Amino acid sequence: MGKALAIFNQKGGVGKTTTNINLSACLALRGKKVLVMDIDPQGNTTSGLGISKKNLESTSYELLVDDKLNPLKTVLRTSVENLDIIPASVDLAGAEIELVQLEGREKRLKRAIGKLRAYYDYIFIDCPPSLGLLTINALTAVDCVLVPIQCEFYALEGVSQLVSTIDLVRRSLNPDLYIEGVILSMFDGRTNLSHQVVQEVKKYFGDRLYSTVIPRNVRLAEAPSYGLPITTYDPRSAGAKAYQRFAEEFLNAEVKHGD
Ligand SMILES: Nc1ncnc2c1ncn2[C@@H]1O[C@H](COP(=O)(O)OP(=O)(O)O)[C@@H](O)[C@H]1O
Ligand SMILES: [Mg+2]
Repeated sequence: MGKALAIFNQKGGVGKTTTNINLSACLALRGKKVLVMDIDPQGNTTSGLGISKKNLESTSYELLVDDKLNPLKTVLRTSVENLDIIPASVDLAGAEIELVQLEGREKRLKRAIGKLRAYYDYIFIDCPPSLGLLTINALTAVDCVLVPIQCEFYALEGVSQLVSTIDLVRRSLNPDLYIEGVILSMFDGRTNLSHQVVQEVKKYFGDRLYSTVIPRNVRLAEAPSYGLPITTYDPRSAGAKAYQRFAEEFLNAEVKHGD
């Protein structure tokens, strides 16, 4: 049975989508069967993996609102072997409101994920930058959370809210939810600020913080416009090497957690 993770931070622009695409691609290259699910109305994971958002028949939106839909029908192949995707559609923007009236509104993804686990080693859900019903559905459906934090002055701002959201979901909807790990992104080794952020986040999260940090690397920012993960777009770039190291650490840390 596969493990499901939400890539979660209610702040936008911290590296959720970049981490989703590239960690998934690195794990797929190592032979893991990986599914990414895009539930962000912006659909950056979808376009970043080269899937056109036009004319998609069934997406994560249909999966959320139609509980009779077979989840496997929403899965598409990507250009990367072992890496599949459930794409996002712009309709997701209205889903927050539509979901309110539906039965079991927080648990609609959980049902779908339950049916998909048998086919994958890992399922990653790319969350939107908000704390609405889409995010609550993701946190209710998964085993654990992966938190990207950007190396910036306000890095820890919002982290206590993030942790209390996880606590809230744990108390009410998903008692076993835990934080798998925290990954720092957009690190710039030339600035004191980046080093200070590492120390602060380390103090807050202890050994939940991965020792790999993802550097700021322009190739990582370029790759999505070609619809490619960094491992295909520029496998020799610093960004590709960092995500490869991260994938390795991610797998080793999982063994240490004992699951
Ligand atoms: N390590 C990095 N180096 C350079 N640019 C990055 C890096 N990580 C993300 N970016 C860029 O920063 C922006 C925000 O990243 P993104 O992954 O989309 O964040 P989020 O999904 O949290 O909103 C995007 O334009 C992305 O290409
Ligand atoms: Mg995103």
